[in-house]
Amino acid sequence: MNLKPETLAEIEEAIPKYPEKRSAVMPLLHAIQKDQGLLSNEAAEWVAEKLEMEPINVLSVITFYPFFRQHKIGKRHIRVCRTLSCAMAGGSKVCDTMLSEFDTSLNGVSPDGEVTVEFAECLASCGSAPVMLVDDELYENLDETKTKEICDRIKTEATGA
Ligand code: FES
Repeated sequence: MNLKPETLAEIEEAIPKYPEKRSAVMPLLHAIQKDQGLLSNEAAEWVAEKLEMEPINVLSVITFYPFFRQHKIGKRHIRVCRTLSCAMAGGSKVCDTMLSEFDTSLNGVSPDGEVTVEFAECLASCGSAPVMLVDDELYENLDETKTKEICDRIKTEATGA
């Protein structure tokens, strides 16, 4: 595994915090996903060896939690809430707008490598539905105009303008 030195340091720091090595599996997977952008089979094997676990047990953790990824995503990670309040307030329309603006498909990577649009479950902001996350930033009360403005901002940032 070719991990950044700071990721390796984070991993070495995390393991002794737990009474059993295997309990450090979640923080290690988060650190590796942040470093690599995804969790490959190689990563699962590496973590298994590090924590004295079976690779299949690490893989089970990766596939169980929706926030762990086994596929590559774009530089910007867009998650549109599809749970009831957002669905009723137009979450699907927001998602369609994002997909069309970036010429991509759900869960795919846009042709320029810039974005991945996914659905997410309740983002705990039901009162301001529909909402979406762009990386870690929450956007609320979305409508067509606001969604397009956010798309324009993302495109501008991508060009470095
Ligand atoms: S339903 Fe979308 S934030 Fe709760």
